[in-house]
Amino acid sequence: MVERIMNTTSNTTAQTLEALNKLLASSYTLYLKTHNYHWNVTGPMFTTLHTLFEAQYTELALAVDEIAERIRSLGAPAPGSYSAFAKLSNIAEENGSPTANEMINNLIADQKIIVTAAKAVVEAAEQTGDKVSEDLAIRRMEVHEKNAWMIRSHLE
Ligand SMILES: [Fe+2]
Repeated sequence: MVERIMNTTSNTTAQTLEALNKLLASSYTLYLKTHNYHWNVTGPMFTTLHTLFEAQYTELALAVDEIAERIRSLGAPAPGSYSAFAKLSNIAEENGSPTANEMINNLIADQKIIVTAAKAVVEAAEQTGDKVSEDLAIRRMEVHEKNAWMIRSHLE
């Protein structure tokens, strides 16, 4: 059954899976990075950012589950290790000690990276009429555009 699904859509499903894998890895890496910033943020914006980052990493924790389960529904194994995510992710890990303003700028850039990764899913899914993957990816674009606005508002 799984093979039949893979065969009928062949290359284009492979493209959707590749894009979903990247979206999963990038979202998981952003989950960890946002959690890191929740723990380590300092300064006058501490309470606001600590709370905002918590809302965003909590939403991401649910999102990565949905993305991974979509990959499984398409018949492929979902990547699930830090080494696999490091290879697939478009988001850079945080190993330093950024200031609150640097965190804000990094996360704004990262939301855009995820929007681009989700758009790649939309474009691949469109080719096979995979409306479910398309819908999932469009919802991810919406969330990350809203996240970017909420983070950006702290700079004004
Ligand atoms: Fe916490």
